[in-house]
Amino acid sequence: MNLWLSQLKDPVPDGLKTPAELARFELSHALPDPAVTLAEDASLGDGYRIEALDDGSFHIAGGSTGLLYGAYRLILDRLCGETISDSVESAPKYALRMIDCWDNPDGTIERGYAGRSLFFADGKLSWDPERIRELGRLLASAGLNVLCINNVNVHFPAQLLLEDDLPSLALLAEAFRPFGIRLMLSIDFSQPMRSGIPTADPLDPVVREWWKKTASQVWAAIPDLAGFLVKADSEGRPGPFTYGRNHADGANMLAEAVRPYGGVIVWRCFVYNCRQDWRDTATDRPKAAWEHYAFLDGQFADNVILQVKHGPFDFQVREPLSPLLLGMKRTNLAMELQLTQEYTGHQIDLYTMIPMWKELYEELPADNIMSLAAVSNLGNDANYTGHPLAAVNLYTFGLLAWNPETDAETAVARWCRLTYGFSPAEEKKLTDLLLSSRGIYEKYTAPLGIGWMVNPHDHYGPNPSGYEYDLWGTYHKADRNAVGIDRTAGGTGYLSQYPETIRKKYEKPETCPDLYLLFYHRLPYTFRMKDGRTLVQRIYDDHFEGLEETRVLAEKLLSLPFPEPDAGVIRERMEKQLYNAREWCDIINTFFHRLSGVPDERGRKIYD
Ligand code: GCU
Repeated sequence: MNLWLSQLKDPVPDGLKTPAELARFELSHALPDPAVTLAEDASLGDGYRIEALDDGSFHIAGGSTGLLYGAYRLILDRLCGETISDSVESAPKYALRMIDCWDNPDGTIERGYAGRSLFFADGKLSWDPERIRELGRLLASAGLNVLCINNVNVHFPAQLLLEDDLPSLALLAEAFRPFGIRLMLSIDFSQPMRSGIPTADPLDPVVREWWKKTASQVWAAIPDLAGFLVKADSEGRPGPFTYGRNHADGANMLAEAVRPYGGVIVWRCFVYNCRQDWRDTATDRPKAAWEHYAFLDGQFADNVILQVKHGPFDFQVREPLSPLLLGMKRTNLAMELQLTQEYTGHQIDLYTMIPMWKELYEELPADNIMSLAAVSNLGNDANYTGHPLAAVNLYTFGLLAWNPETDAETAVARWCRLTYGFSPAEEKKLTDLLLSSRGIYEKYTAPLGIGWMVNPHDHYGPNPSGYEYDLWGTYHKADRNAVGIDRTAGGTGYLSQYPETIRKKYEKPETCPDLYLLFYHRLPYTFRMKDGRTLVQRIYDDHFEGLEETRVLAEKLLSLPFPEPDAGVIRERMEKQLYNAREWCDIINTFFHRLSGVPDERGRKIYD
């Protein structure tokens, strides 16, 4: 294991009850000198104030969790060789800093690339207490505080979490309590029907009563449960549409049931027609979330949070910011990111995400949302994230959820220093490589914002027309002359869902930023880019460059003195990434070359 906390040699013992107790333990073991005094001040909540006193000691004030976050701040600063000379105050921007695990009761993880579940095996809850304490430490030290442990696709027997498995769930919640981490559960909207009720209609009084009774039982077992996460009417999951109700009806019904216990309903907005006929040109999938939710703005209960994927599709390498995150001013919103590298290299290819998140924040006012969530990249691999360098995404996500103004380079450099303790030059090299990795991956995969040229289902490796005649609404429509979909007002109208400033930025191909060009426009291969190259030449160039940059990345990365076992894992995955980059480069270039018949201006090898 080589995670950012591996320098804390003493494992967290069993039996600690509160974050304040854990803060005392961590400080006395990791920072016995100088002395640190703690004072609980509930008014500070998750926030903390650290004062450096004249005698060299420190004083931390905070709520119970605030003391823990303050303790980790001091300890990690110290591990980084930094000291607080005067005083600092810090409080998280978002109350819910959430990790969503897509773990199934059988121990598999949907879209998981780091082993099996840390919470389930053989159809039921099952965990190793020591690993849970290690995980709790990891999450808390990154400032994260809510953990949804089960897949949003709630397949049987996950429903038992609200039934027979409650006592076991209560024990897991207890294990996370000293880390200030509250559990959340994904629920099945149709669960009342398991009790013989013939409907799950949210306006039916019997259904409403069932949820109230169930909530009272669940919160009696786990009084600090954060709430329920719901995927409804999405990719085959049940929901209010079956009964002619809308999503405010569904979410508010659940919100009423959990309100007495301070619970929240996190309701996902990933709703679209996943049975689209590719011949249908009137439907454009990115428009779907807006069409289902925007008209409901202001109608959700105050303990409902709509969780919106950051882009209108599904975690592609490049997507614009979802218009819902800009347009629903009277609704509590969460932005959902994806740490697990479903479309971004399966934790084989290097892909550091914070540069992408920072781009999203260039258009998203931080106050528009009240919570930040990310689909987990964790599993029971010894290093938790499969690729040791993928842990940077978990850590920096935590920093961002605490403070969205976090600078990408500082955050990545801090993770490098904590994790590897390299020399300054090596640390700079690793930081730069990590920061460049997303741009490189983007260059050798689907071009200029078009997305979806992956192998269907598995989502690793190239397949330019794999999703072209399918039912998921994910088309590029490349023919011998042109590629892309016109999403401006003259096309599908998707761009009209945005405020004017954004519309203006993207509406004309001549001024639209290059990397979004094929997301918004259908263009001939001969289209002249701003720098004078043709569109198809730009596609060829990006792919050749992406492959070459991967070679350089590999060379530089493998020259760094990683310790074992990381060194071996990094080498083995880098070899796979090189193979993948070559496949992408050759297949995408060949695909466009065969269609367009345009030769590469520079005469490089493209296959016939
Ligand atoms: C993607 C992913 C699914 C997942 C879904 C979701 O479509 O491929 O595995 O269930 O997103 O976010 O609900």
